[in-house]
Amino acid sequence: MALLEMKGITKYIFDSYGVAIRNTTVKILDKVDFSLEKGEVHILVGENGAGKSTLMKVLGGLIPPDEGEILLDGKPVRPRSARDALDLGIGFIHQELNLCGNLSVRDNIFMGRELTHKGMKDGKEMRRRSEELLKEMGVNIDPDTLVKNLSTAQQQIIEIAKVFSYDCRIIIMDEPTSSLTKTEIDILFRLIHRLKAQGVSIIYISHRLEEFERVGDRLSVLRDGQYIGTLEKEAFHVDRIVSMMVGRALGAMYENTHVPGGERVLEVRALRLEPHTAPISLHVNRGEIVGIGGLVGAGRTELAKSIFGYRKSFGGQVLYNGNPLKKLDPALLIRAGIIYLTEDRKTEGLILDMGIRQNISLASLFRLFPRLFMFGHKEEELARDMVGRLNVVCNALEQTARTLSGGNQQKVVLGKCLATQPKLLILDEPTRGIDVGAKAEIYHMIDTIARSGVAVLMISSDMPELIGMSDRIYVMREGAIVVEITEKAEMQQETILEHTIGRTGGVA
Ligand SMILES: Nc1ncnc2c1ncn2[C@@H]1O[C@H](COP(=O)(O)OP(=O)(O)OP(=O)(O)O)[C@@H](O)[C@H]1O
Ligand SMILES: [Mg+2]
Repeated sequence: MALLEMKGITKYIFDSYGVAIRNTTVKILDKVDFSLEKGEVHILVGENGAGKSTLMKVLGGLIPPDEGEILLDGKPVRPRSARDALDLGIGFIHQELNLCGNLSVRDNIFMGRELTHKGMKDGKEMRRRSEELLKEMGVNIDPDTLVKNLSTAQQQIIEIAKVFSYDCRIIIMDEPTSSLTKTEIDILFRLIHRLKAQGVSIIYISHRLEEFERVGDRLSVLRDGQYIGTLEKEAFHVDRIVSMMVGRALGAMYENTHVPGGERVLEVRALRLEPHTAPISLHVNRGEIVGIGGLVGAGRTELAKSIFGYRKSFGGQVLYNGNPLKKLDPALLIRAGIIYLTEDRKTEGLILDMGIRQNISLASLFRLFPRLFMFGHKEEELARDMVGRLNVVCNALEQTARTLSGGNQQKVVLGKCLATQPKLLILDEPTRGIDVGAKAEIYHMIDTIARSGVAVLMISSDMPELIGMSDRIYVMREGAIVVEITEKAEMQQETILEHTIGRTGGVA
C-alpha cells in the first residue's frame, strides 16, 4: 500500500477563498491521480500552468478539491489548512517565499510555535536551535538577521530550514532550487538523501531536467491539468520526459543569431558595492549578451541594482552610450532606455492584486501615455501582444498576477520589461521557474532582442543558460569581478565554478 494516494482530484477555477466559481467548466485539475511511497522522492513535472502547484496546495490543505479523495496510510484525510497538513506530517516548501521580512530568521523558523520558557518567549533557545539547524544545512546565516536583508536564495534556504525543523513524513518541495546555485543545490540534495534514508517521502517539483536523475525515484507528468503518466528511474530519458510534458519534441535550446556590435552601451568604471569591496569595471556593447556568474551572495544582484539606482554604491561611474549618468534614478533610467528585471518577482516585480494588463504596462506608462491621458485600448494592445509573444497561460488579461502559476508570473515580469522597449536590458535570473519549452522561446526572444541592437546584461545561476547565451562572462565573488571570460572555448562549467568558488576553496 502506498503511503499517500490522491485519486481523481479535480479543481475548477476558484475565487480568492478557494471556492469554485459557479457556472464555470474550466478545470485547473482534471481527475488527477498521484501516489507516493515511503522513503521515495517523487518528481512532479509539467509546463508552466500545468497544475503542479495547485495539486500540491490541495495536498497541503491550502485549497479544497472539488472532487476526489486523499488517502494517507489507506485512510481518507482532508487537510483544511496548512496546520492540518502539518499535523498529518505533511510539510510544504512553497514556490513563492512566504516569510516575514521584518522578522528575524529565528522568528520566521519558529513562527506559530514559539518556544517558551516559564511562559516567556525563549529567544535564546530559538536562536540556538536555528543556529544548529542552519549549521546542519551547511549554510552560514546568522539567525538574528532580518529576513528582508537576505537575498532571494538565502530566503529560500530559510524556507527550507523552516519545514525541515518540523518532523514531517512527507515534504513537498515546489521548485526549491529555482534561485539556488550549484553549491546550495548540492547541500539541498545531501539533505534530501538523508531524509530519504530516514524514511521521509518527498514530492519534488522542478523544471531542471538535470536534477531528476540525481534525486528522483519516480516521475509523474501533468499537462493542462491532466495526469499523463509516471516513469520509473530507469526510464528517465530527457526526450521522453519532454515529449510527455509538451506533447511534442523540442527544437534547439540556444540559437545565437545576434552579432555583438561596436559601441559601448554600458560602461561601469570602478564602482564599489561596499566601501571595503574591490572596484568593479565592466562594459556591454550594442547587440551583445554579457553574462554574470557567481555564487549566491557574490554581489551580482547588488551590482545590477546599483547600476539601476535601486541601491547605494560607492565611488565610480556609470556611463550610458558614452555619457556619465549623473543620477542613478530608476524612473529616469527607464525613460532613457534602461530596464532591470528583478529576480524577486513576488515583491519587486509584480503588483500581485493587479491584472496582467496593468502589470505589463506598469513601467511603460510614460511611453503609452505621454500626455497623461489614459487610453485603455493602447494598454490592452500592448498586454495582448506581450501575452501572445511570451505565451502566458491565463484565462483573461484581467486575471490577477497572484493567481498565475509561478512561471507565468515570471513571463509577465519579463513582458513588463520588454514593453519599455529598452536599449539596455539587465536581466536577473530571467528564466527562474520557467519550463523547458518556454525557456527555449525566451532564449530565442533574448537573441532576437540582441540582434536588434539591444545590449543585454544577464545574471544567471543556471550554468547551461549562462554558457549557452553569453558572448562574454564576468564571474563575481565577494562583491567583485574575479575574471572576465571572452573566449567561447573557455566557457566551461568547471572553469566558471572554479572561479566562483576561488581556487583556494572556502565556500561560505
Ligand atoms: N484562482 C484562480 N483563478 C484562475 N486561474 C487560476 C487560479 N489559480 C490558478 N489558476 C490557474 O491554474 C493553472 C495552474 O496553475 P499552477 O500554479 O498549479 O501551475 P504550475 O504547474 O505550478 O506552473 P509553474 O510551473 O509555472 O509553477 C494556471 O494556468 C493558473 O493561471
Ligand atoms: Mg507552480
